[in-house]
Parts: sequence; C-alpha cells; structure tokens
Amino acid sequence: MYFGRIPRFSPSFSPAEAMIAARFLAVPPEDQPAVRAFEKEFASYIGAKHAIMTPSARYAFYLLLRAMDIGPGDEVVIPGLTYFAIPSMAVTAGVRPVFADIGLTSHVLDPAEFERAITPKTKAVVPTHLYGTPCDMDAINAIAKKHGIKVIEDCAQSTGAKYKGTRVGNLGDAAYYTFGLTKNITTLSGAMITTNDDAVANFVRNEIDTSTPADFKKARKEAITGVAMMVATHPLVYPFTLHQAIRLGGLVGKDPIHDRFGEAEVLYDEVPKSFRSNRPRAVQAAVGMKQIERIEALNGARVRNGRYLDQHLANVPGLTVPSYPEGAEPIYMSFVVHHQKRSQLMRALLKRGVDTTYGYMNDCSDHKLFPQFRRLCPNAAAVKREQVHIPVHPNLDGKDLTHMVEAVRSACLEISR
Ligand SMILES: Cc1ncc(COP(=O)(O)O)c(C=O)c1O
Repeated sequence: MYFGRIPRFSPSFSPAEAMIAARFLAVPPEDQPAVRAFEKEFASYIGAKHAIMTPSARYAFYLLLRAMDIGPGDEVVIPGLTYFAIPSMAVTAGVRPVFADIGLTSHVLDPAEFERAITPKTKAVVPTHLYGTPCDMDAINAIAKKHGIKVIEDCAQSTGAKYKGTRVGNLGDAAYYTFGLTKNITTLSGAMITTNDDAVANFVRNEIDTSTPADFKKARKEAITGVAMMVATHPLVYPFTLHQAIRLGGLVGKDPIHDRFGEAEVLYDEVPKSFRSNRPRAVQAAVGMKQIERIEALNGARVRNGRYLDQHLANVPGLTVPSYPEGAEPIYMSFVVHHQKRSQLMRALLKRGVDTTYGYMNDCSDHKLFPQFRRLCPNAAAVKREQVHIPVHPNLDGKDLTHMVEAVRSACLEISR
C-alpha cells in the first residue's frame, strides 16, 4: 500500500536476488554452466527449442538479421511505434526499415498495414508485442507466409505473454527479449534469443561464444541501481523521498526517472564494440533463474492490475483505454491510455499522488534519426503525442488501484473544464 503516493514503476528485483547478485559478484563462478542452465530453463518456459543469452536485444536483432542472411538491399517491416534501437540496428546492418502503422488503441502492428508495406525486397517483419500486448499473430504469420517473409518477434516488453495459448517468442522464426531493470523480469542487463531453427541458433551461439565476457562493472552498477530502486519505491520510503523529488522536478520541467533510464538516440555505422563483447555472465544467469521461478506471480499481479484498470477506466470522459487483438493474453507491461491534454492530465495526476510517464517509445516513422525512411503512420503519431502510462506494476494493491481510478476520474473531470 503506497498511501496515495504511487510510483510509475517498481523493479521486480527482490532482496533475495540482490543477495545472489552480491554472492556471485564477490566470488564469480564459471560462467558457462550457469548461463547454459538459465538458457535451458528459459527455452522450456517459452516452449522453444533453443534459447541463447545475448548482451542486449538490439544486438540480438542484429545477429538474427545476419543469421537469416538479411543485409544490404533488403527491407524489414517494423512498426512505426517502437524503440529507436531496433530500426537503428537495421540501418547498421544495411537493411532498410520500412515503417508500418499500428492499431490506434492496441499499439501493435496492424496486419493490413504490414501487408501494404511489403515490396519485392521485404525479407522480414518484426511484430513487436509492445506494452505486453501480443500482436495478431495469425494474420501476421499468414501474410508473412504468403510473401515468403521471415517473422522476428520483438518480445522485449512481453516475456510470458501468450497468443491463443502459445507464449510469444514461439510464434515466428525467431524472437528476442530483454531483461533490463525496468522490465517484467530482470537479469541486471542482458537479453535472450529463442528459435526453433537449428541453423539460426548455431550462427548466434557461435557469435556469442566467440565474443569476450562482459566485465563485472555493468552488472555491479545494475545491482546497485536495482537495490536503490527497490528501496526508493518501497511504500514506506517512496512517498517521502522519490515522489517528492519527482514533484519538485516537475515544477522545473525535469523528470529524474526519465532522465536516469533514457538513452541518447543515435545511429551507428557499425555495431559498437561494447554491444558485441558483452557475453553474459553467471551473475546475470543466476538472477534470471530466480526471476523465471517468479515470473508467473509477477506477471499474474500485472494481469490482475491491468484487468482492473481495463474495467474501471473504460468510461472516463476524454480518456481512451487500450484494446487487445483477439486471442491476445497480455501481461500488462504498461497500461497505456490516451488523452488529448496529455501534459495537463499527467500534472493533475501527480497532484493526486499518481506518478505517470509517457515512456520511451517513439514514432520512428517520423523521427530525426530516420528522415530517409519517413512513412506516414498516423496512429503511431497520435499515440506518441497522447500516451500516458498509468502504473500497473506488481507491487500495487487493491487500495492503490482504487485510489488511482478515482485520481484518473477526477483529473479528467478537472481538465475537461
Ligand atoms: C520494444 C523494445 N525493443 C527493443 C528494445 C531494446 O532492448 P535492449 O536495450 O536490450 O537493446 C527495447 C528496450 O527497452 C524495447 O522496449
């Protein structure tokens, strides 16, 4: 219970996992057995034949393009609303990103727009299960099959979500996930690829195994940040510390959390060495092992909270709530509503103790990094302009949810005047 002061997010990292990280950082064991054990566990959780741990999801995507022999002269269809690093890696690989629009309220790739974006050069599509919501995979797979296009699922925000009973990541040719501190499960940085394709798995495994291991600095920094976030978002601490910092920051137009977790949006001529030479360590795998034991409970709490918000925010004047493709079983990584007066709504909510964010996803179809790939995606543009992420993390209880719903109702009423 947060006593009416609700943080936008709270890490899934627990004190038990902090202890494991401390132990593994103090006396580092051999990496390979721990990493292989986590990969095996993860593959079995997803239901895929192979799982290979990678330093980041963006490098995973880059490796998958290479593994599938997709390169200069080829095109890949990517939803307009996504994380900039994915189209950025396509550009690094010499591949043209072709942006296709999303569903306005589902926030995920619109199958009809995917089909419209296909040309004879299209080699792959990236259905991005954004905000924890699975894409309409039957439609996407049917179109991909008709045109002979590879399907690379982006599961960075949806580990554990299902589509028609099958976990995402097991619905296309290959998939990638990421486990940063703000994700639904964390390995203190690090990511994963899953695939049922032996050749793709062998290619990726070889690239990863011949890179150099990550140094401990990153995992140590992430563990310290995780502990700091755990403490700072604790119900007995948050209302008097971080919440006050956010409120004060708001008065001078600053957002300390956004600034801490944001990153410079840049393009690379080649994959930076720091991306390539970060073979995951035993400490990341050990934390991941513990997280996978808890993933059903963590996601289950998100689903409970998300469904409550679906139900109770459905008829608030001026507010648009999310929708889900038929057959999607979302894990509510984010609960994204839209409002035409976005800034006013966020300020009115903060006044009522509810901290929100507009997140890090961009309309890449109209972004300064990709001027030569600009393509009209009106829904992605509208979401970018109007989205507000309402807290949905597992640490919220019934009282927090009731408070939030009341806060959203009264904030919407106030700004409608
Ligand atoms: C949808 C999506 N795809 C890809 C990524 C990139 O992940 P990474 O930072 O591990 O490269 C992110 C990161 O948050 C993401 O949200």
